[in-house]
Amino acid sequence: MVETKVIGILSGKGGVGKTTLTFNLGTALNDFGKNTLIVDGNLTTPNLGIHAGIPLYPTTLHDVLKGKVDVYDVMHVLPSGLKIIPASINLNDLRGVDPEYLSSTLRNLIGKLDFILIDGAPGLGKESLSVLKSSDEVIGITIPDLSALTDLLKSIKLVEKYKKKYLGSIINMVKNKKYEPKKDHIMTMLGETAILGAIPHDENVRYASARRIPIIHHKPNSKASLKIKSIAAKLAGKEFKIPWYRRLF
Ligand SMILES: Nc1ncnc2c1ncn2[C@@H]1O[C@H](COP(=O)(O)OP(=O)(O)OP(=O)(O)O)[C@@H](O)[C@H]1O
Ligand SMILES: [Mg+2]
Repeated sequence: MVETKVIGILSGKGGVGKTTLTFNLGTALNDFGKNTLIVDGNLTTPNLGIHAGIPLYPTTLHDVLKGKVDVYDVMHVLPSGLKIIPASINLNDLRGVDPEYLSSTLRNLIGKLDFILIDGAPGLGKESLSVLKSSDEVIGITIPDLSALTDLLKSIKLVEKYKKKYLGSIINMVKNKKYEPKKDHIMTMLGETAILGAIPHDENVRYASARRIPIIHHKPNSKASLKIKSIAAKLAGKEFKIPWYRRLF
């Protein structure tokens, strides 16, 4: 039996980089030698499987949540060794699915993996709540934009309400433009919680995504990749230093 860390990736606002982070952070943890599973907890608009290049896996999390198949039947191992449980992109598969079963489904895997990362749905509805309830710890992600920060703040309040551990926030797609809220402003808004890091806006992320590979493999020495790897190293208890000339803030 190993100690399994179950980490939900939540944001409140959609389109800020949850799925990209889940795929890349999972890959980085796997590269650090950690037995890692990524799960698509975004049941209505899933795209983790698309990011990972397996959009049409024949059985999915939806089948598990309907009690049709076992969780191991839908666990796919990517060429990197990273494990993934995709959700179905077929609208018809949504019928009869109850997100409430996500937690008990994943509990069966406790003790067998080092990390389970759950990609959350946008918003703060039933789906994202099921991800929150299934997780022991949460990483929040936002972009440097007041509305996204406000939504993240609401997610953090929910994390506190459900007595989960908030590991901290990641500020994604940073362009260092004058109109973006500065680090001090962001820290004031997010209160006492930690900032795990800032990831720059980098077109290579989209390029890698189009090729169905993680940015950390496509451009391993880009600032975005180095930042993601340093966050993974912290989670995995590994030594990893970003050279000073590659740091963002
Ligand atoms: N650091 C980055 N630089 C540039 N583009 C990025 C970066 N991070 C993510 N993106 C792009 O932003 C878009 C949204 O990312 P992603 O799908 O990961 O967001 P999401 O929060 O999961 O969205 P949703 O809420 O719809 O599930 C994608 O096209 C992705 O390639
Ligand atoms: Mg997503």
